Amino acid sequence: MTPYTCAVLTISDKGHRGERQDTSGPALREMLTSHGYAIAAHAIVPDRIDAIQEAMVDYIDKQGIDLIISTGGTGVAPTDVTPEAVKSLFDREIPGIAEAMRQQSLLKTPNAMLSRGVAGIRRQSLIITLPGSQKAATENLGAVLPALAHAIAKIKGDPADCAQHHPIGMGGAV
Ligand code: MTE
Repeated sequence: MTPYTCAVLTISDKGHRGERQDTSGPALREMLTSHGYAIAAHAIVPDRIDAIQEAMVDYIDKQGIDLIISTGGTGVAPTDVTPEAVKSLFDREIPGIAEAMRQQSLLKTPNAMLSRGVAGIRRQSLIITLPGSQKAATENLGAVLPALAHAIAKIKGDPADCAQHHPIGMGGAV
């Protein structure tokens, strides 16, 4: 359980136009809620850099939401611009989160290498971009979720010893 707030941002032209039902956003909300995150916002924006950045800046700079999880637009189609939109918002990137997502996902499908998803820090918030399908989004989040509460605590300056925060299932529980 965590004391942190979370925003889920679904990035999809079709979802935004109402031509496709967003099943990834609700599935992510459920996963996050069951891990103790309070869902503070959820929106669907089109695959446009300005729309993505506007939502993220609102969530972080105005609302101070701790964890921003996006789904969609990480692939290699011409319309996929999520990494480009988000990377320029980072104060610092956390490559290991994206590496872990792809590493775990490659065990499930070779298509995992096509996600260009990124993770990083803006102010005192953590941003993670997941792929768009419900299956891909939940598998990717599942790969990193055990480490996120500790990541957010450290981003906010928690001076506690890291040894106290080994997540079970990631090789750290002894
Ligand atoms: N990762 C996992 N774990 N499972 C998946 O099914 N699908 C991949 C990949 N990552 C997938 C996955 C596919 S098919 C694509 S195209 C990329 O994520 C990018 O997805 P996006 O463009 O919807 O963001």
